Amino acid sequence: MNLILLGPPGAGKGTQAERLVEEYGLVQLSTGEMLRQEIKAGSEIGNEAKKLMDAGQLVPDDMIIGLISSRMDGEELAKGIILDGFPRTTAQAEALDAMLSEKGQVMDHVIQIDVDEDAIVERICGRFSCAECGAGYHDTFLKPAEEGVCDKCGNTELVRRTDDNEETVRSRLVAYRLQTAPILPYYEKNGSLTTVDGNRPMEEVLDEIKGVIAAG
Ligand code: AP5
Repeated sequence: MNLILLGPPGAGKGTQAERLVEEYGLVQLSTGEMLRQEIKAGSEIGNEAKKLMDAGQLVPDDMIIGLISSRMDGEELAKGIILDGFPRTTAQAEALDAMLSEKGQVMDHVIQIDVDEDAIVERICGRFSCAECGAGYHDTFLKPAEEGVCDKCGNTELVRRTDDNEETVRSRLVAYRLQTAPILPYYEKNGSLTTVDGNRPMEEVLDEIKGVIAAG
């Protein structure tokens, strides 16, 4: 099974992807995470991407398509993939279709997590994650059991993203509205799109996504 999680920044794509990986043994491919690893490694791609990410703008399509295609090998597709943060433009959606069809695969579900913009800033500004295993947390909605310690791996280095501030979130929302939301009709037309209400607690959102998957 292959699926895409779509939605504005802070909708809960990463949060739900983490749970769906546990539930179905899929491989999560997050383009945001791949870019952050490039930045950490100090690569040319990372240096170019950082300026755009910190400004809340999308990085160029060719860079993203190159990154994702290098990760869509036979082994990952054999397990099934969850795309989190990709595609974000029409060009990326078309490139994805071409990559899948070349490998004899299809996209089974495109799930849009819909969240009110008012909630997004609060979600993003309170977010942090484990520097070691990447597990995600929130100051209010998802605190670790022991303050300052990752529940999953016990690491004590918990970090915040440099683009998680109100000003950048507003720019990311504009990019979502102008460049990403226009791809929704593309998936609506081919019948793969389902919208779930992401304004509810995480477990309820997860149950609804599992229901969509179970319905085939
Ligand atoms: P990316 O890393 O993909 O960021 P994003 O799309 O802005 O999404 P987020 O990671 O901010 O949000 P999320 O939906 O995963 O929310 P989360 O689950 O963490 O991209 C970053 C940048 O990289 C982009 O701006 C762009 O520059 C570049 N980029 C990446 N991909 C690209 C592409 N394909 N093309 C071009 N450029 C690209 O949840 C947020 C918080 O809310 C968490 O703390 C969580 O605990 C909490 N939360 C989650 N669900 C709930 C709930 N139901 N109730 C209460 N709290 C909740």
